[in-house]
Amino acid sequence: MTAEGRPEGVEVPRGHYALGNPAVGPRPLRRTRSFTRRGGRMPRTHQAAWDRLADRAVLQVPRLHGDTSTVVDPSFELDPVEVFGRRAPLVVEIGSGSGDALVAGAMERPDWDFLALEVWRPGIGHTLAKMSSATGGEALPNVRFVEIDAEVALRTLLPAGSVHELWTFFPDPWPKSKHHKRRIVSPGFADTVLRLLEPGGTWRLATDWDDYAHSMREVLDAHEGLRLVSTDRAPLRPVTRFERRGLAEGRSITDLAYVRA
Ligand SMILES: C[S@@+](CC[C@H](N)C(=O)[O-])C[C@H]1O[C@@H](n2cnc3c(N)ncnc32)[C@H](O)[C@@H]1O
Repeated sequence: MTAEGRPEGVEVPRGHYALGNPAVGPRPLRRTRSFTRRGGRMPRTHQAAWDRLADRAVLQVPRLHGDTSTVVDPSFELDPVEVFGRRAPLVVEIGSGSGDALVAGAMERPDWDFLALEVWRPGIGHTLAKMSSATGGEALPNVRFVEIDAEVALRTLLPAGSVHELWTFFPDPWPKSKHHKRRIVSPGFADTVLRLLEPGGTWRLATDWDDYAHSMREVLDAHEGLRLVSTDRAPLRPVTRFERRGLAEGRSITDLAYVRA
């Protein structure tokens, strides 16, 4: 038997199926996820940036149900002061995608730290490549990634009151009604975010889907711990592919900023 209780020689399959493989462990309770796992191949330049910079920029965290799982071990807490080697306002971005907002924000605010939670490894590779071209080959010292399901991780990964700003820009819209339950902005997730925000901390959201914007307003306006303070464009949010595509397809952009009341 291996240390994990797996019979010697049993190969752990790659990908999400590993979650329910008898060689790995019991299948966790089925849960509704805000993402589907997409392909893992990266273009060469992104892979090269990953190979060079991931060791420094992508944090390794203990996971439940094996190395390929997106579920963080809930007993693990990350200390931002230890990770960044300083105490600075912390921005957490959920679903940083290919990193346009993250890289622009981190360059604009070198005095802030940025932690990106993203399940899509090629997006992290793309972001590292962007970072590398912006800096002449380096990782930005104020940016780290965790390749993890943010919805689950944020319940336990960070200390309460440790986040200055939390960004949820263009979350997957799940436009079909039968998929609305997959949308990440929900009353339960609002409770999670509230625990993380420092007093006066801000949750910034943007979407190009009107009905998602309405549902965000409905959920977050009703939350007694949050107060809507702005519908202006978030100060550090650049125009991204999703914004351009939304506008090109005739949709309008909604920005929302809530503070911890
Ligand atoms: C529509 S993209 C938007 C990307 C980026 N925020 C932007 O504005 O360009 C949504 C991203 O969120 C990621 N995502 C969705 N659910 C997630 C979750 N629970 N945890 C971490 N990342 C998630 C997806 O992999 C995808 O890259």
